[in-house]
Amino acid sequence: EGLHSLMVAAGKLYFGTAMDTGNFNDPAYMAIVTNKSEFGMFTPENSMKWQVTEPQLDKFSFTQADEVAQKVKSNGQMLRCHTLVWYSQLPTFVANGSWTPATLSAVMTAHITNVVTHYAGQCYAWDVVNEALNEDGTFRQSVFFQTLGSAFIPLAFRAAAAADPRAKLYYNDFNLETTPAKTAGALRIVQLLQSNKTRIDGVGFQAHLAVNHTPPRTSLAATLRRFTALGLEVAYTELDVAQTALPESAAALAQQARDYVAVVGSCLDVPRCVGVTVWQFTDKFSWVPAAFPGRGEACLFASDYSRKPAYDALVALL
Ligand code: XIL
Repeated sequence: EGLHSLMVAAGKLYFGTAMDTGNFNDPAYMAIVTNKSEFGMFTPENSMKWQVTEPQLDKFSFTQADEVAQKVKSNGQMLRCHTLVWYSQLPTFVANGSWTPATLSAVMTAHITNVVTHYAGQCYAWDVVNEALNEDGTFRQSVFFQTLGSAFIPLAFRAAAAADPRAKLYYNDFNLETTPAKTAGALRIVQLLQSNKTRIDGVGFQAHLAVNHTPPRTSLAATLRRFTALGLEVAYTELDVAQTALPESAAALAQQARDYVAVVGSCLDVPRCVGVTVWQFTDKFSWVPAAFPGRGEACLFASDYSRKPAYDALVALL
């Protein structure tokens, strides 16, 4: 039994992973991807981001993301779609444009409408807005916030809802697991949408964590419940647990296993936590070493595809 089968048997919808077209020519990788028992949900790691899907104004390009969507569909697996409005990985025409509220809201709405319509019916969920918050819970000074204020958020969710009534619409961010001021900011975003009668279905906890900095299972579950109490579902959307000293010791590998168990266990503890997605399953393709020099070895499988203690601990948990 793989992780997805075990999660489903535990009453959840899925266990998933990020992947992308750059991984397709690795046979050992694809053997695990096509094992439906291991992963039931896939998030394109980069292919659905704005710089890929609309590199120039009104020039849409779905070739790359379609390859991921096709692979997943032909295998009878599910797709989490990521992401529509994010300050990062934007095409230069958006990042460096000189915008008025009217011109930016028109371009943002057209982007969302085109991309969500293209994948309508294929996405279990969309990360509509990604990483809108600073660590202190205030809004990040993105081009969207600077031009439109917090109104960019309801605008984005409404455009997504209109283009695909079936996809669950998520707000997604990191450190919501660990940083109370930021968690409070995410709760305010949910309330902003709900008080505007704008649909939001879920909050995604990225869970880019580090060994020995992962909160205990009970506090992780308590944080999830603050969102489910507002009528939402929740999910861990980008889980990895980085080693902070490399090469890692046996003790650090064992701690990483306990940290993975705390996160997945907290999802088991909260009925409306629908599933867990890891941000790549092998150290071979993890984003962590490039993004955080000195950190790494964050995944469930080693670079040679051997299963790490964290993998075995999840099997034991589930
Ligand atoms: C990362 C990818 O993994 C990298 O390949 C890319 O270079 C940068 O983006 N939060 C997110 C993800 O929502 O989209 C990011 O993915 C990781 C942090």
